[in-house]
Amino acid sequence: MATLDSLMAEDRDHHVHGQTNLRQHQQQGPAVMVTEGHGVYIKTDDGRELIDGFSGLGCTSLGYHNDRLAEAAKRQMDTLPFAPTFYGRSHPKVAELAARLVRMAAVPMDRVMFQCSGSEANDAMIKFLWYRNIARGQPQRRKLISRWKGYYGNTVAAVSLSGQPHMHANFGLPMDDFLKLSTPNYFHFHIAGETEEEFSARMAQEFEDLVVETGPDNIAAFFAEPMQSGGGAILPPRGYWQAMQRVIRKYDIHFHVDEVVCGFGRTGYWWGAEAFNLQPDSTSCAKALTAAFFPMSALMFKEDFYQDMMRNSDEAGVLGHGFTYSGHPVGAAIALEALDIYRDIDLIGHVRRVSERFLSGCQALMEHPLVGDARGIGLFCGIELVKDKKTREKYDPALKVGQRVQDAAHAGGLYLRSIPPDRISFMPPLIIEENEIDDALAILRKALDIVYNELD
Ligand SMILES: Cc1ncc(COP(=O)(O)O)c(C=O)c1O
Repeated sequence: MATLDSLMAEDRDHHVHGQTNLRQHQQQGPAVMVTEGHGVYIKTDDGRELIDGFSGLGCTSLGYHNDRLAEAAKRQMDTLPFAPTFYGRSHPKVAELAARLVRMAAVPMDRVMFQCSGSEANDAMIKFLWYRNIARGQPQRRKLISRWKGYYGNTVAAVSLSGQPHMHANFGLPMDDFLKLSTPNYFHFHIAGETEEEFSARMAQEFEDLVVETGPDNIAAFFAEPMQSGGGAILPPRGYWQAMQRVIRKYDIHFHVDEVVCGFGRTGYWWGAEAFNLQPDSTSCAKALTAAFFPMSALMFKEDFYQDMMRNSDEAGVLGHGFTYSGHPVGAAIALEALDIYRDIDLIGHVRRVSERFLSGCQALMEHPLVGDARGIGLFCGIELVKDKKTREKYDPALKVGQRVQDAAHAGGLYLRSIPPDRISFMPPLIIEENEIDDALAILRKALDIVYNELD
């Protein structure tokens, strides 16, 4: 039987990893191999157990073991392991899940289309916006607005929407038609003396200026995460969403809200849209939809949108879009069970209760000389590391301060993710208990001490 050491070598020699430095992987092999998980803990190749401070990739809402989800998967595999959703064909679980999702949407939605990942859901939405605009006799309405630091996925269109330059570089991307606004990171980008509300008004003015310059009739949609995730857990500042939504309403812009990370409890609300009082015209979700036990995403929109799409489908004969595994029965069965579990354990109530401990603990880290800012909501917090708290000066990126804190936390028993240059995105599984939060925070504080002492 293969040993872990030999598998580490196989991985180094044969497996290509995304979002990974390829040369480093070629030289060093996997940074870590995760072998098992239970509760909020993962076990790594060296036999240690670590608290997962990043929920896998913001997705393992119920942690790493769940009998009900495993049984739901097994039941469905025994009954119907696959059925397509092309050509008007369906199966009971996907029909039940579609109805369930529209009933629980943050604002009334009518139609759901399933995909396999967050990227695919956002990519499909871009296509559907263009498709719909052609049906409405507005083929010029193709411009998509999003924000720097936004993360919408990696397919060609979704990555063009993403505001992550390293995901565009050397791919010849983004495509044309994709426009960007500033990220609303108040701590980092406010002008001296500017209040959060003033900063928010400035962000909204930037948005309005771009809309006017582009021409509102050329804009297909504004895409946004309620709270930016892949960009480093950036809590929108006070007044931000009110000001941005005033521009959306004034120019009648389609507002797509990406709930891939915020959806299903991360913020202490079912949806990020509820947490920040957003009025989306359409929305995408994934990750905690199946508690990460199965790759599945969903795209929701309203009836008038569907009616427009129908006109094009009449003309072409079909909606010319879909994936083999869209609406997979095993994924749908797991998603339905996950939603039942969320209800049965009162997940939202739990997140609200434990988030007090979590957020106050994160706030307390602000006393640490390395921490310039710590803001969050629910079980979702962004921590910014700085050289000088007053001037917000950053460390030289070559020092890799975020990476070092991540590594020191790892050594201490907390699995974390640093986002270059120096942000920590802290988002444990939603089932985490207060004592585990205390343990995670203590490890993080110690990691900060270690790195600070080294830098000193
Ligand atoms: C907000 C958001 N949208 C979309 C995506 C893309 O999802 P996926 O990786 O499932 O394609 C991600 C991934 O992390 C995300 O954070």
